[in-house]
Amino acid sequence: MLKDRYDNGITTASQAAADAYSAAMDVMLAGQSGMAAAFERVTQADPGFALGWVGLARAHHFFGQGDEALAAVTRAGTLTAGVSAREASHINAFTLLITGQGPAAYAAIRAHVDQWPRDALVAQTCSSVFGLIGFSGKPGREAEILAFNAALLPHYGDDWWLQSQYAFALCETGNVEKADQVIDRALAANPANAHGVHVRSHIWYEAGASEAGLSCLSTWLEDYPRDGLMYAHLYWHAALWYLEQGDTEAMWARVDAAVSPDSGTISPAINVLTDTASILHRATMAGVPVDQARWQSVSAFAKRAFPATGNAFVDVHAALSHAMAGDSEALEQIIDHPAGPAADLVPDLAKGFRAIAARDWAAASAALTRAMGDLARIGGSRAQRDMVEQSLLNTLVHEGRAREARDIAALRRPILAAHVPT
Ligand SMILES: [Fe+2]
Repeated sequence: MLKDRYDNGITTASQAAADAYSAAMDVMLAGQSGMAAAFERVTQADPGFALGWVGLARAHHFFGQGDEALAAVTRAGTLTAGVSAREASHINAFTLLITGQGPAAYAAIRAHVDQWPRDALVAQTCSSVFGLIGFSGKPGREAEILAFNAALLPHYGDDWWLQSQYAFALCETGNVEKADQVIDRALAANPANAHGVHVRSHIWYEAGASEAGLSCLSTWLEDYPRDGLMYAHLYWHAALWYLEQGDTEAMWARVDAAVSPDSGTISPAINVLTDTASILHRATMAGVPVDQARWQSVSAFAKRAFPATGNAFVDVHAALSHAMAGDSEALEQIIDHPAGPAADLVPDLAKGFRAIAARDWAAASAALTRAMGDLARIGGSRAQRDMVEQSLLNTLVHEGRAREARDIAALRRPILAAHVPT
């Protein structure tokens, strides 16, 4: 039986398909350009190889191309004759995920990874902050992601993919020094790993090393094509550092070229919405003038791309966009109809942004404070949730409660007190 690059047996008689599959796995696990094309090479080499179609489906799923993803995973479901138990479970897990059956997908994936820990494409669905654990809305999600990755370590040796995921989990749970060492090894093994470069950027952020971060990230991005999965988000990281350094011209250049809905980016909609709203708000809080047309653009994009609530991280950024754009109908829709596992946190955060837009600082800080107890439940990374942390600090400063703002920053996010303009 032929094997994939993690020594999992694969049901294809074509060596060309097997080689293409291992190569496509690398493209996916590293967030490189040409993900769907890489899996199309697999299906062309052996149209009867089910996992090639699953990989193609997952590639489309990453970019929000629902119809293409559904067609490919449906095709995989017709090719199950003679597949191994692992492959049947792999097909089932991604079918559940791509058809929107989140809880069933999560249960199937956790059971699958317990039995076949080296099935990296399945494990990847839970390994980082934008995964099934990350968006579970559960208390302790950061520690759970760390535990998930740590449990895989004995099965992967020095593998660059798992090491980069493990480093991110370490970073997000405050173990920045160890994360720094682990990501160095992972990037040495695969310098083209966009996820690794992303993790590296978070570690620099948490360490307050904005100059080193910006320099290295900017150099790396020179060779990263627009269809790379992390394109918009990595440019957001760069834009954030330019804001921190006061270079707003460079910040806007990145936002307009790679992040905003008007940039022509093909990055996932979740990045386009959340990163654009975040940088506009963080710029505003830093005293940078933000054209109202920018807010209207991202608010309109939020309504198009996410017509229904369900993911708190998305909904909070949509609410911020609607509040700042003055679209009270869309904002109240989110406040009145929150959904998903962290739905209980969304109305207070949305009301906080509504009050900020009205410059009612006391109401804003009261509403935001109600949601801060376990803010991590909304999902995303610590760097991303700093948008909310900063919003509270900013409203307190406006209220004349600067001393409290300093104390809260020191207690919750010392990095904001030390390095970020509020
Ligand atoms: Fe990030």
